[in-house]
Amino acid sequence: MEQLQGKEAAEERKSILLVDDMVSNVKLLARHLDDYKLYFALDGATALAVAEQCQPDVILLDVMMPDMDGFEICRHLKGNGRTQKIPVIFVTAKNSEDDEELGLQVGAIDFISKPVNGAILRARISNHLELKEHRDNLTGLLSEKSSELDETYEKLLHAEKLSTLGKLTSSISHEFSSPLFGMEQILTTFREQEKNADRKNMLEVCIGECRRLRDLIRSMQSFGRPTTSHKCPTDLNTIINDVLYLCAKIFEKNNIHIEKKLQSVPRVDAVEDQMKQVLFNLITNACDAVPQEGGRIMVSTVRQARHVILEVADNGCGIGADDLQAVFAPFFTTKQEDRGTGLGLSICYGIVTSHNGTIEVKSPPGDGAVFTVRIPVPEES
Ligand SMILES: Nc1ncnc2c1ncn2[C@@H]1O[C@H](COP(=O)(O)OP(=O)(O)OP(=O)(O)O)[C@@H](O)[C@H]1O
Ligand SMILES: [Mg+2]
Repeated sequence: MEQLQGKEAAEERKSILLVDDMVSNVKLLARHLDDYKLYFALDGATALAVAEQCQPDVILLDVMMPDMDGFEICRHLKGNGRTQKIPVIFVTAKNSEDDEELGLQVGAIDFISKPVNGAILRARISNHLELKEHRDNLTGLLSEKSSELDETYEKLLHAEKLSTLGKLTSSISHEFSSPLFGMEQILTTFREQEKNADRKNMLEVCIGECRRLRDLIRSMQSFGRPTTSHKCPTDLNTIINDVLYLCAKIFEKNNIHIEKKLQSVPRVDAVEDQMKQVLFNLITNACDAVPQEGGRIMVSTVRQARHVILEVADNGCGIGADDLQAVFAPFFTTKQEDRGTGLGLSICYGIVTSHNGTIEVKSPPGDGAVFTVRIPVPEES
């Protein structure tokens, strides 16, 4: 155990690169810093290579060296993306103000004069290392927060798009549905009165097209309709069983094997019809994607902390990496015109979001698609 702790401590030790052309100076510095992990370089080229490869936490740099002096080395370090953030401290016998100014100009953070006082050297290094650690933590935190912000912005943008499109589609579809209904009624009357078989067929085609437009309008309306229906405690497993029961004929006709893994999960606050619609859209998409022979759809539920996770996976054609984000956008479809409107997943996204949940898709190459819906469990459960 002690050995293990010792090893871990060694792994966590901070590292310092000592750069000086005089071996005796390097040895002297090393003696003061023996509890750090140390790297050495006796010339500029080696110093640059070691800094890039070993990424020390701090570099102690002599100023006067043959070939490349300390200022030059420091300029190179600060000009290289992989080494520019490593703090550089000059250790030098030159202690004129001009030298100090030049050192700071080329990017050093401190100057230590020779002959070196061990206690001061250690204290300064420890201060700079602490500062560096804080800076690294802050940088990590900042990049984490900024990617969270990007993600939120993307979601807001998507929600905004959906909402605008929703208003547009519901007003257009409202204007379309009455005249379309009238046309369908007139065509149906004509078809009933028509004796000529050819013309009867043509009228049949027209009526079929009217119905297709009506279906499209219905899905556009549900897309635009805000969630006003009442949410109540809903068992997602019951919803799954109902939808699978309704789709049984489709599975049978297309030879699709269904695997269910439903764990006992708490009820969630949901609008039952809307959750059914989500599942129905996911299942019909999976049915469209699976191969004609050996199609499989896996539906599962499980509780994970404060969420119920519902997953619909299939062994179908999968979704290319470029399309993974686009599938939730309205009207994105890869299906033939008469097979898909591209609204199904947008509707799912809208419904799930209005339930404070999330919907995601993964599609490992050659391994179908997995849609994951997460719905929060109410506080009191
Ligand atoms: N399980 C899946 N496997 C492979 N691709 C899928 C799957 N689910 C969705 N997709 C892709 O996402 C696209 C968008 O799906 P979405 O349900 O929104 O529209 P659609 O199925 O094309 O039309 P509809 O509005 O009739 O549902 C599909 O056209 C398909 O390319
Ligand atoms: Mg669909």
